[in-house]
Amino acid sequence: MGQQQETVALVAGGAGFIGSNLTDALLARGWRVLCLDNFLTGRYDNLRHLEREPRFDILDADVTEPLPPRLTRSGRRISYIFNLACAASPPHYQANPEHTLLTNVLGTWRLLGLAQAHGARFLQASTSEVYGDPETHPQRESYWGHVNPTGPRACYDEGKRAAETLTFDFLRAQRGDVRVARIFNTYGPRMRADDGRVVSNAITQALSGDDITLYGGGEQTRSFCYVDDMVDGLMRLMLHEDPYRGAINLGNPEEITVQNLAARVLRLTGARSGVTFRPLPIDDPRRRRPDISVAEKVLGWRPRVSLDTGLKRTIAHFSGVAREAAMIPLKRRGSVKPPA
Ligand SMILES: NC(=O)c1ccc[n+]([C@@H]2O[C@H](COP(=O)([O-])OP(=O)(O)OC[C@H]3O[C@@H](n4cnc5c(N)ncnc54)[C@H](O)[C@@H]3O)[C@@H](O)[C@H]2O)c1
Repeated sequence: MGQQQETVALVAGGAGFIGSNLTDALLARGWRVLCLDNFLTGRYDNLRHLEREPRFDILDADVTEPLPPRLTRSGRRISYIFNLACAASPPHYQANPEHTLLTNVLGTWRLLGLAQAHGARFLQASTSEVYGDPETHPQRESYWGHVNPTGPRACYDEGKRAAETLTFDFLRAQRGDVRVARIFNTYGPRMRADDGRVVSNAITQALSGDDITLYGGGEQTRSFCYVDDMVDGLMRLMLHEDPYRGAINLGNPEEITVQNLAARVLRLTGARSGVTFRPLPIDDPRRRRPDISVAEKVLGWRPRVSLDTGLKRTIAHFSGVAREAAMIPLKRRGSVKPPA
């Protein structure tokens, strides 16, 4: 009897919020995991508990640059590549928009090439932002979107759209087995406190006794998916054996106003803070709710964790983490080098 081959997964963006939670789940399955990250928004702290894990390795690399030779030339065969590399929150991805766009386009192209070289299955983490400010509700995969291609969010939205295009071009050219997840708002432990997103903002402000800042009138809606549910959806999408030739929405269809979210955070933290309002940022979507009927049918997936349960776990995380540790400055990325 030959020895069973070890399953190796590469998680690009594995030091980030979703990537580090995914890494834990892959290791729990008995897989070996290579995390490739430039630590732009990812944090070593998210992976510190794996310091002594022999099946885990970190490569400090930027996907806009040629990939480390260790990945391309030799070493173990990689069976699965999850591409989560890209800052996900507006203040972070807008800090260097050129780098964000190239992370999505050039980075996805490089990782698709790597997947082809290894014969690995490739999963692209796309986003509900490909729908822009949607004119249909809820958003189905068949909706082509309403994106401003020249606005300040375009580096992310259009970058992710181009990354989807590249991924499906690879499929059409029969260069690999690919999957695309359109991820809707996800929250949970290991989010950065300074990422400017409504859940982390509301929790950190409430815990510090500050008023919660809401943008616009607070009537815009979001649908929040707890990170464990998202990781489960990503795993199912990667592992299902009957390839579905389209992107799949992953998110929680329970839609609430951000004002309602703030009220829940105040209740669950017991904070006595109030709420202050600021103008809505440019191109901020007004409504967001995924139609997840494809994920339910194809993957047998739907979120299980209620918003109150997920918020309690996230509040516990932020209460335990020193604020400074959650807010270490972003690593500076200089100008982007031209493609090699
Ligand atoms: N969190 C959400 O609500 C959400 C929603 C939609 C889509 N997504 C997508 O899921 C993925 C993970 O999101 P997240 O919330 O964990 O964000 P995150 O910022 O915590 O993680 C992104 C990771 O990618 C790394 N990274 C960024 N640019 C890189 C580059 N050029 N080379 C190598 N590594 C790079 C960062 O350092 C970080 O570790 C992203 O692709 C994001 O677009 C997330």
